[in-house]
This record gives sequence, C-alpha cells and structure tokens, in this order.
Amino acid sequence: MKPEEMKLLVGVKTLAITCRQFGDTGKGKFADIFSQWADIIARGTGGDNAGHTICFERQKLITHLVPSGILYDSQGKINVVGSGAVINPASFLQETTQLAEKGCSYKNLKIAYNAKLILPTEVVLDRAKEAMAGAGKIGSTGKGIGPAYTDFVGREGLMIGDLLNPDFFAEKLERHLRYKKAILKNYDPELLEGIMCNYDLSNGLYYDPEDIFNFDAIFRTYMVYGEKLRPFITDTDSFMRENLGKKNILLEGAQGDLLSIDRGTYPFVTSSDCTVAGLAKGVGLKETDIDLSLGIIKGFYMTRVGAGPFPTELGGEESDKRCNGGKENRAKEKDFYGDADVNSEHEFIQGVALRMAGDEYGATTGRPRRTGWIDLPLLRYTLGFNSPDLILTKLDVLNDCKTIKVCNHYKYTGPDCVYANQKIKTGSYPEIASPAAEILKHCKPIYVSFPGWKCSLKDCHDYDSLPEELKNILAFIIKNTGAKPRIISTGPDREETIFLDLF
Ligand code: IMP
Repeated sequence: MKPEEMKLLVGVKTLAITCRQFGDTGKGKFADIFSQWADIIARGTGGDNAGHTICFERQKLITHLVPSGILYDSQGKINVVGSGAVINPASFLQETTQLAEKGCSYKNLKIAYNAKLILPTEVVLDRAKEAMAGAGKIGSTGKGIGPAYTDFVGREGLMIGDLLNPDFFAEKLERHLRYKKAILKNYDPELLEGIMCNYDLSNGLYYDPEDIFNFDAIFRTYMVYGEKLRPFITDTDSFMRENLGKKNILLEGAQGDLLSIDRGTYPFVTSSDCTVAGLAKGVGLKETDIDLSLGIIKGFYMTRVGAGPFPTELGGEESDKRCNGGKENRAKEKDFYGDADVNSEHEFIQGVALRMAGDEYGATTGRPRRTGWIDLPLLRYTLGFNSPDLILTKLDVLNDCKTIKVCNHYKYTGPDCVYANQKIKTGSYPEIASPAAEILKHCKPIYVSFPGWKCSLKDCHDYDSLPEELKNILAFIIKNTGAKPRIISTGPDREETIFLDLF
C-alpha cells in the first residue's frame, strides 16, 4: 500500500465507501484497493441487482453479491454478506462456482443467518409487476429485490437461516405461497407462465399450471441450496460488533444514495437504503461506528440505469428511450454509432459517445446506462446527509472532451406545486435538488462550461501534474458543494489513482 493511502487511513479502523450518485461509479476498484488494508470486508444492502467490476491480473471479474474483497480470501481476509442484504441462493452459488473456476478461494466467506432469502415468488412478482407497469416502469433488474424487501417488511418473508430448519422452512414457505398465489391469481396466466419458464427460474421447475407454484419443487431445491450454504451461514452482526475497533473493517456499499429507498428519487429507486446509514445497519453496526466515510462520484459526468428523472441527461427523452428500450439496442450501439463523437453538437450523440468511451453498460443486465453531465444540485443534496469526503472516478473518460459542462443550478419548469409545504413556482431556480421524482423531472439544468484538458492523464501521478483545466473544474465543485475530494481515479488500474492532500 502506498504511503499516501496510509495517511488517509491514519486512525481509521472502520471505513465505508458508498456512492453519492445513481450507482455504477467504480466502487469495485476502490473496494479492491482498500481491501488490501482491510481484514474484514462487508456488504449490507441490496442483492444480485448490484454488479461490481474488479480488474485483477488483467482479467475482469464481476461480482454481484459477494464483496470485492473476495480476491483476498486466500490471505485470510474475511468477506461478509450482512443481514441487510437479500440473497438469491442460486445466484450466490453461481458466483462461488465462477470464483472457483477462476481459481479464487472463498473459504472465509460468511453470510448472515438473518439476511433475507429471495424466493422464486419474489422474482416472478418483480417481473410481472414491471410487465404491467406501463409508463410507471422502474426499470428493475428483475432479480426479485423489491418484493423480497416488501415481504420482509410485510412479515411474509423468509430468512437464509430458515434453510437450515426444514420444518420451519416448510411451514413458512406454505404460508408465503398462500399469500403470493392469492395475489398472482389476478395476473394474466400466460404472462406468469412466460416468466416462470425462464432459464433463471429453472426453466419452469417451480411452475404448476394449476396452482401457479409447485411447493415440492421449491422446497426440495431450497433444501439442497441450504446444505450448500450451510458452511457460510453465521451470526455476522455479532461477528462485526466483536471485531469493531480491533480489525480493519471495510464496508462496501451497493447502488447509490440517489437510488436509496429512503433518500433517493422515489419511486424510481431500489428497495434497500443504500446510503451509508443503511449500510452500517445492514452489517449490524451504527453509522457512528464508521471512522471514515468516502463517497464516490464519477469525475464530471453521471450515469443512470433504468427509469427515473435525470436532469442532465444528454439527449433527454431520446436517450432514455434508447437505454430503456429492448435488448436489440445493446447489440447495435457500436454498429450504429461507432463514430459518435463526444464533441458532437447533437447531445444525444454526445451521450452515446460518452457511454462508449466510459464503457457504460450494466455489469448485471448489460443495459446501456443513460449518460449526462455532473449535477451539483443533486450532489449538494446527497452531501447534506453525508461527510464531504469524495472519490472522483473515471476522469480519463473525458480526455477527448473539448468542453465539459457542470450543472450548478436548475430552472423548474413544471406546474406550480407544494413540496415540503413550500411553494415551488414555475420559472424558479431551486438551489438544492428535491429528490421527489415529479419535481426533478421538470428541472432543466443551467450549465457552466469549462474547457477540457488536451492531454491523456496517464502521466499524472499527483495533484500538481494534473492539467489546469481539470483543477479548475475540481475547484468549482469544491466551492459550490463544500465537497472534499480525497482521491481521483484516472483509469481502471490500481496505479491510476491519485491521493489528494488539499484540505
Ligand atoms: P431493482 O433494485 O432491481 O428493483 O431496480 C430498481 C432500480 O434501481 C432500477 O432503476 C435499476 O436500474 C436500479 N438499480 C438496481 N441496481 C443497480 C445497480 O447496481 N446500479 C445501478 N442501478 C441499479
């Protein structure tokens, strides 16, 4: 580990990394860097809807549920999937199989007995709801995340630990299926059959044409999963508390603040609280147990996957339509827009070029990510409930941009309305973004334009060697948000990381 990195971590025993935007900001790289320092690496929110890409010995490794620190399992480091997570055992086992195939050990991996268990019913409900949502589509990954959290809160869910108690499991499953069948009876049977005969629902194994779900098939399959998961299942909340202040702990977030069920652009959010507070709770700790909380954003641009307001989106509705359209859009992007230029005068094309330059395609679903310029009203909003410390990633993606735009304000163009009992008038200029989707969707960005840098960042290894143009944008963001950038990333490799000492 470099000495500069150690400086940031002096006195730190528990470190958290979460995203201040819509996720996909490159947490994987930093989770990997800090895993070298950590003894324990823990996740506590979300499930296999997340996707982390880690570069390892020139190979790309994508993890969904398992923390990025798994690469260091063979060094005795312990990776934890905490009680706040939702776990689909089939996905978990697929991931451990892939790790084994790549020669990566996972013998020290622990999963919480009280993590929430994803059942086939929840995957079916997730997909059936999206299929019927029309314009209200969230763009869910279809992994059953929302219904699994809903069932937990609604006291109809099962836990990972239930897999180790066949009698309890059978009783709870029977009750759970009764509730779900009552709801799904009102859905189109053909739609349900189509969803249930999908390969990731075991090609219809759980389907009963007469009664929707086949209890026996689910029971048998989940009991086999239970035996396979048995070595990993434990009381991780107690384990984390016992090690607090003694071992170096890294808490690894999933998704981002703006997708949090509590703080995000509701209802276009995921169903976990992916803020640092949610993460701490999801591993059995308190937010105040964290010594250093680092927020990640992309360097001067943003992305969003799925539906929901995105004021700075390049190409607006056209981009939204393309990215949230069918699968064929993914395959054809490079063929249709191979020569798209980040300096194009057409915003939509600029957005496509940025997506290709940043390889902005979902690690979990392969969906094209919507792209746009950095949004400071939203950053001011997320910094309002976080420490100011930031990591800025992927700055090299903007190397060819002649002009970089920063949104510092919005103009609200929607109908007059009341938010938090305050009038918002059409034509007004809100300082801080409101996370309410129906307001945010009417906010038009007001940009400040900056000249881009005219060099590669390959030879920049410290703040002084960074181009002046980049430093100017950084200074503008610091001045207008109160953020404290601590680290910037100029490429995917570990070496392409600059530790700043500005404060
Ligand atoms: P769900 O969590 O699969 O239900 O999806 C809800 C919303 O969160 C959708 O708009 C997804 O695209 C988005 N989402 C879920 N996981 C991720 C992620 O890891 N990165 C970015 N967006 C995500």
